[in-house]
Amino acid sequence: MAAFQAKIYELFRSAAAGKSPFWIGAGVAGAAFAVAVLSIVLPRGGDREASLGAWDRVASVLQHRRCLNCHQSNEPLQGDNPRRHTPRVVRGHDNQGAPGMRCSSCHGEQRNNEASRVPGAAHWKFAPRSMSWAGLSAGALCRTIKDPAKNGGRSPRALVKHVEDDSLIHWAWAPGGERKPIPIPHYVFVEFVDEWVRTGAHCPD
Ligand code: HEC
Ligand code: HEC
Repeated sequence: MAAFQAKIYELFRSAAAGKSPFWIGAGVAGAAFAVAVLSIVLPRGGDREASLGAWDRVASVLQHRRCLNCHQSNEPLQGDNPRRHTPRVVRGHDNQGAPGMRCSSCHGEQRNNEASRVPGAAHWKFAPRSMSWAGLSAGALCRTIKDPAKNGGRSPRALVKHVEDDSLIHWAWAPGGERKPIPIPHYVFVEFVDEWVRTGAHCPD
């Protein structure tokens, strides 16, 4: 910047001395200055917008029934028109149900059981209470999943990794039975999460 300022100063001086066409010089300097300012200001504004745009797409997945049915505060829900889990199950001390009614007594580790209609995937368990998203606006949801005190101590990068790898998230794309899968491809979802993080993980108000 110092060299740039010196250049402007020099232009002014030579103009004052009547040695060069001042207005052309000032015009060039002004244009250069405008470009410099825009290149500093625009990407930031643009990034925030890109981030919020990506977040909208991310939120549309997080708020899908396949995810919300497990990200509840008290008990899991079932179905596309969510109803209470039948039979009734509770969280239990480790998010895997009470003794005798463990998630694993019915939910397989490998795959959905199409005969009994019980969905299954590795590590089937209830989302911890701090990860309950029921009733949250898109902005509140955004702040919740970013908050390391609530999200299992994850950095934004670790969130991208989680949505890329987690078996329960993958299940939501092949949920079995009549359950609706997430409508956009999994890799597109991961790309939106990645874009949201790369552009500063901004949250709407
Ligand atoms: C069967 C229950 C279940 C389903 C279905 C489920 N989750 Fe989760 N989710 C969990 C559990 C359990 C954890 C905590 C895992 C941990 O901390 O290691 C979790 C953690 C997360 C986290 C990281 C913590 C946080 O709050 O940021 C994200 C992100 C997440 N889930 C997204 C999803 C998305 C997106 C879907 C749907 C596509 C989904 N989950 C479906 C049970 C579920
Ligand atoms: C006694 C058996 C049984 C136990 C125990 C059980 N479930 Fe289920 N669960 C089912 C059945 C059956 C379904 C499918 C019902 C249907 O879709 O008609 C189901 C469906 C679900 C769904 C719905 C998926 C969707 O989006 O529709 C979630 C979430 C779920 N269970 C979570 C849990 C969690 C978490 C635990 C442990 C705390 C658990 N279940 C314990 C039998 C059980």
